[in-house]
Amino acid sequence: MTRPWLLSLLLLTFPAVLRASTDLAKNKVKVLRKLKPISTSNANVKQCLWFALQEYNKESEDKYVFLVAKVQHAQLQVTDRLEYLIDVKIARSNCRKPLNNNENCVIQENSKLDKKVNCSFLVGALPWNGEFTVMNRECEDA
Ligand SMILES: *[C@@H]1O[C@H](CO)[C@@H](O)[C@H](O)[C@H]1NC(C)=O
Repeated sequence: MTRPWLLSLLLLTFPAVLRASTDLAKNKVKVLRKLKPISTSNANVKQCLWFALQEYNKESEDKYVFLVAKVQHAQLQVTDRLEYLIDVKIARSNCRKPLNNNENCVIQENSKLDKKVNCSFLVGALPWNGEFTVMNRECEDA
């Protein structure tokens, strides 16, 4: 037995689905300025890194706090916010979690606890609002 009503239902819903997906594409945030290298000592880069490391330390299961060892590259693109793409080498410090701000943490060198990780952080920022979001993070042991 055929069910013509089913076919017409499909025909009715298809255009709606298509429309929804094109709307989604339209809502994608426009890139107003493409990724361009900027100085790694830029103040916003530093703030973004500080934020990204805080998130990293919150989420990592390591007993020790990781610190920035070397900022390799920083790039900026502008969308509805500032997006910083930062390549950084981070390293395990001698400070156990949770981090006490009064501690002087140094990177573990030449010990069994020596551990370095290369990370690429994409941090979205509205620095004038103090808003930072880690939009993407890729890390691998270095
Ligand atoms: C980590 O980053 C450094 C500097 O960019 C690079 O020389 C090294 O090959 C990287 N290590 C890994 C495992 O990707």
